[in-house]
Amino acid sequence: MKLTRRDFLGSSAATAVFATVPLRVDASPASEDVLEITAGSSKQRLYRPDYPPSDLWTYNGSAPGPEIRVKRGQRVRVRFTNGLEEPTSIHWHGIRIDNAMDGVSGLTQDAVMPGEEFVYEFVAPDAGTYWYHAHNRSWNQVARGLYGALIIEEDDPVFDREHDLTLMADDWLLDRNGVLDVASLGSPMEWSHGGRLGNWLTVNGRSQPEFKLNAGEAYRLRLINVSNARILEIDPNRFDARVIAYDGQPLAQPEILNYEPLLIGPAQRVDFLIVPKNTNPILIEEMSGDRPFPFASLRPVAGGELKPEPAGLEPNSLPEPNLNRAMRFRLDMTGGAMGTVVETVYQGRKLKGSDFSKTGQVWAFNGIANFAAEPSFRCSRGETVIIETVNRTAFVHAMHVHGHHFRIIERSGSSVKEDSPWRDTFLVGPNQITTIAFVADNPGKWLFHCHMLEHAAAGMTTWFDVV
Ligand code: C2O
Ligand code: CU
Repeated sequence: MKLTRRDFLGSSAATAVFATVPLRVDASPASEDVLEITAGSSKQRLYRPDYPPSDLWTYNGSAPGPEIRVKRGQRVRVRFTNGLEEPTSIHWHGIRIDNAMDGVSGLTQDAVMPGEEFVYEFVAPDAGTYWYHAHNRSWNQVARGLYGALIIEEDDPVFDREHDLTLMADDWLLDRNGVLDVASLGSPMEWSHGGRLGNWLTVNGRSQPEFKLNAGEAYRLRLINVSNARILEIDPNRFDARVIAYDGQPLAQPEILNYEPLLIGPAQRVDFLIVPKNTNPILIEEMSGDRPFPFASLRPVAGGELKPEPAGLEPNSLPEPNLNRAMRFRLDMTGGAMGTVVETVYQGRKLKGSDFSKTGQVWAFNGIANFAAEPSFRCSRGETVIIETVNRTAFVHAMHVHGHHFRIIERSGSSVKEDSPWRDTFLVGPNQITTIAFVADNPGKWLFHCHMLEHAAAGMTTWFDVV
């Protein structure tokens, strides 16, 4: 029998041992520096100390890979070496980047072959919380540990290094020995249902880490969901936190949530502001299980300096969509278990029934499974694009637009406030319609796909061209 989340939960609740970990910042290069990042295999323990380590694929020997921290506008140079036995590339998620550096194997670059190198060089225009991950066979490579944090600092950061924590949450599927279950990777069941769902959550590659804070001082917590498919359910009011940014883009004002839970889909980020009032430990819990699972904790210690609360973060300046003069595109999402099935084109051929299922593809966008030779749409640079996503499947999806941030302007069944926050990934529930708008101001070929990585591999990937 496989360990289930509940088994893990039960054992952990009984013996919650939190190891205090240091803050990690691994690389803050100067402008002229070149960061070396190598993908390779390494061993890392994911579960408790008395369990064996797992065989992972990592950047520079650990999952997450080095946290890269640079200033807004600073040039980032990474010499990437592929030490894996399969081709790969690095995508810089959420960055409004030069298209040639977007790192999408097969669209913006050829995959980097084993033993070969690729130099990434870009300037990030927006301060905020981003991340990087493998973008070839991502369902496999990200599941095995190929990801890291990319933090772009404000010109004049509101929170200093000691008050700025990154929490990369990952959902792993462990076998009964507490090691990564590799045999199940690529299972048709995962591909046609809700994606690969795990049974254990780590933060920064560790089990239930504890972070030491000073009571009375204000902290920024950058929570990044790097799971293949798990939607994290978090209730910030349980730990007195306010939201200060979504998907890297700061809010003008910290926000107290008036609903719960807050859903954080795969690839999404939420930054929280937290000021521990006293020295009571603060648990950060994931709420989707039978009972809250404390996947990280904060331990405030006395002696902090009572300081005035910092001013809010300064929003980045993004071009505002013009809804009155926009190009409209409708994306019809079909397929998957229990979903609407349409006649589907895959690799240029029209397929029906069992001929389609034999391809291993299960989902489609506008009747096309996966990359087509032609883009879904073309638009000209500077044009506002409105995308209406119509989810005719039985599952929720986490749709990600490369190279741009958008606002959600309409969502069936719930109201959307004007000037809803900028995002780069949005959730669309079964039978829901969600409409987004953005200015296509970044020329090139941009991917638009579900960030549930099994769904992306099994059909939910398309692209558009800004010319
Ligand atoms: Cu993090 Cu194509 O995405
Ligand atoms: Cu999906």
